[in-house]
Amino acid sequence: MSRPIKQIHLAAHFPGVNNTTVWSDPAAGSHIEFGSFVHFARTAERGKFDFLFLAEGLRLREQNGLIHDLDVVGRPDTFTVLAALAAVTDRLGLAGTINSTFNEPYEVARQFASLDHLSGGRAAWNVVTSWDAFTGENFRRGGFLPEDQRYARARTFLRTAWELFDSWRGDEIVADRETGVFLRDPHPGRFTHRDTHFDIAGQFNVPRSPQGRPVIFQAGDSDEGREFAASGADAIFSRHGTLEAGQAFYADVKRRLARYGRARDQLLILPAATFVLGDTDAEAAEIAHEVRLQQVSGGTAIQFLEQLWNRDLSDHDPDGPLPAVDPDPGEHTVARGRASVRMFGDRLATANQWRQLAEAKNLSTRELIIEVTGRQTFVGSPATVASAINDLVQADASDGFILVPHVTPGGLDGFVDTVVPLLQERGVFRTEYEGITLRDHLGLAPLVPAVSGTSDASGASPAGPGSAARAVS
Ligand SMILES: Cc1cc2nc3c(=O)[nH]c(=O)nc-3n(C[C@H](O)[C@H](O)[C@H](O)COP(=O)(O)O)c2cc1C
Repeated sequence: MSRPIKQIHLAAHFPGVNNTTVWSDPAAGSHIEFGSFVHFARTAERGKFDFLFLAEGLRLREQNGLIHDLDVVGRPDTFTVLAALAAVTDRLGLAGTINSTFNEPYEVARQFASLDHLSGGRAAWNVVTSWDAFTGENFRRGGFLPEDQRYARARTFLRTAWELFDSWRGDEIVADRETGVFLRDPHPGRFTHRDTHFDIAGQFNVPRSPQGRPVIFQAGDSDEGREFAASGADAIFSRHGTLEAGQAFYADVKRRLARYGRARDQLLILPAATFVLGDTDAEAAEIAHEVRLQQVSGGTAIQFLEQLWNRDLSDHDPDGPLPAVDPDPGEHTVARGRASVRMFGDRLATANQWRQLAEAKNLSTRELIIEVTGRQTFVGSPATVASAINDLVQADASDGFILVPHVTPGGLDGFVDTVVPLLQERGVFRTEYEGITLRDHLGLAPLVPAVSGTSDASGASPAGPGSAARAVS
């Protein structure tokens, strides 16, 4: 029996704050004015995308003690932006990245329940833990929760938030004018939660929202992060967008689901993806090269170099060869607050790989950085890009993609106008929204609250967060 054709999920990441974003392009606009968000969101909705995604950064990153220029352009508060976008869109899901290390469950649950109400059931929460003490200094005396406690806190944070969402069943408010009865239940929203991270009790003050809970995203890549996703997330924002890496990641996390009594289709895998379109493949390749030159100026190449070398290389010539000196293997002090520095692993080994590549291809420092950073996921004519996206999804390298255009706010327009219709013609992407909520768009079953009657979640909640409510099919 042949496999059913999978439907593709598409989302749009509002760009900004790193060098994927080309601010110097004549078409580039503001990353903070509401008009940019509106243009971007309405384009995504015109393309029938599942959702718009906002990343989050809670401290301006630094390099050699100076802030990273692009950081300052795209970090307005997530809830404020999404709530405003709820008013100018009808169907588009609204996904926000909110940290579980520095916030408190009660306030975050209130914010997401409110967003889900205001948007008519379109809210999603990307639960991130953050890893660096540098960011923590903005929030906690002495900086940071030890790294090995981040996911423990995230797990109980999410479970606590779920108890708060589920503390309202949804039928408490009767508002019967005849009898004068407003509330059926005198104690809606009652909760008690006690564990090593949270000791809270009271009454949750936002009635049950259209989705019951926001859709849950996860974006960490460690073993613990993947386990966290398998235990309770609805989707993963991953960085594995190629066929081989995508298939390996997809198989790995889907395999973990059984441990939590979950089915394969209860967790979607959505890698980040960039794209460059042209009338022909050759034209797209030319534009892609120009985009890479815009993204990696000589100065940016030196910044990347410093992130691996962990040294001040501001005097290094980006058009010359890689530095002869080896990276400093000590604690990372040059680039602070950047996730990428964690990914280098053995700095000397990576530097030697870069040296070999530069020598083999006769590349300058800048050319080498262009080659080893910021891979462009899809480059080609609309037909080529549509085929590539569909092939990856049908081959179980992903369930769709979160697209990151390189120009704000118009970078999505061409994709929606030319690639989306081709995917629709092939019957692999919706031509109209079929449901109302984001859960509907993602093909996730609606939720009913786990507990009936008043919610008392004191320690009695099940171990796996996924079991705190059940999906109805
Ligand atoms: C594709 C991707 C996007 C991420 N986006 C954010 C973000 O916007 N804000 C943030 O604080 N962390 C972000 N993270 C970091 C993770 O969510 C996570 O908190 C961090 O990587 C530590 O988890 P790990 O050790 O499991 O990787 C992202 C990670 C990935 C892989």
